Amino acid sequence: MKESTMHRICVIPGDGIGPEVMEAALTVLKAMELDMEYYPALAGNACFQKLGTTIPSQTVDQAQQAHATLFGAVTTVPGQNSAILTLRKKLGLYANLRPVKSYPGIDAIYPDLDFLIVRENTEGLYAGWEEYTPVGAQALRVVTRKASQRICEFAFNQALENGFKRVTAVHKANILKKTDGIFRDTFYQVAENYPELEAEDLYVDVTARLLVKNPQHFQVLVTTNLFGDILSDEGAGLVGGLGMVPSANIGDSNALFEPVHGSAPDIAGQGVANPTAMLLSVVMMLHHLKEEKAANKLEKALLIVLKERRFLTPDLGGNSSTLRMAREVQDNLDAL
Ligand code: IPM
Ligand code: MN
Repeated sequence: MKESTMHRICVIPGDGIGPEVMEAALTVLKAMELDMEYYPALAGNACFQKLGTTIPSQTVDQAQQAHATLFGAVTTVPGQNSAILTLRKKLGLYANLRPVKSYPGIDAIYPDLDFLIVRENTEGLYAGWEEYTPVGAQALRVVTRKASQRICEFAFNQALENGFKRVTAVHKANILKKTDGIFRDTFYQVAENYPELEAEDLYVDVTARLLVKNPQHFQVLVTTNLFGDILSDEGAGLVGGLGMVPSANIGDSNALFEPVHGSAPDIAGQGVANPTAMLLSVVMMLHHLKEEKAANKLEKALLIVLKERRFLTPDLGGNSSTLRMAREVQDNLDAL
């Protein structure tokens, strides 16, 4: 019997603009008529108001059982557990991939960027341990050889798969001698297995400056959790804003795809959020599911809309709604 190609997708719209960009993405995705089943699940602040938790165990189970999870965005009120951090942890999603690309038609600081940030997603300053002391507070920064090796190997493999020639490790080992010393040394050990790729390391402050001055230098960057968080927002700023940058959170048995932007309460409810980052996250999911044809088709349809500046949302200089822009992408699918 032929093995089924049906994909089970867990869908977590979340809060704020999360449900708005998710509706747009699902409208387009469903129009592609792939063999997929969608399982909606709750997380975030609205979920907390209803169920008393930001991330119910049913949601974690559903995400675990799915072939992939689509995540919109959540609002995390101070004192609440972060739903996305819990999912990353519980699903073992150790690699956070954040491609930073410029697209023709989009007003960006740089029109010619194409690099990939590979962010370690399980430790660093996200280890979750902070405490008050008599004089203030302190936090723990965890770097293990195992997680460093795993993420560096992931980064080199991504470079090979995507035709990049150089991998840059980003750290602050001049100050964080032990934690980032281990990260940098592990990076160079891993690099020995990839003689065809150039390996270099840079301090995070130098990287932040070069990203502004000469971002074309970068191809694949691999770094610890918080530096990856910060540099990916900087990357978004270079290519047209947070509405443009998708991400994939990958583990050994699960994967979750989400825009880099948050729930944006300032524009939520107006139906004007840019659906691009969410749609590009869907493209990443389709690649992950080996639906290459669909992935390429969706990306192409979106690129036409961006390039020809048809029915864009206000952040991109247009005056269309989220759904109107998504419908334009859908119409282009039909034409391809
Ligand atoms: C991101 C976000 C999250 C992070 C927050 C919402 C916990 O900023 O995905 O970049 O810090 O990882
Ligand atoms: Mn962030």
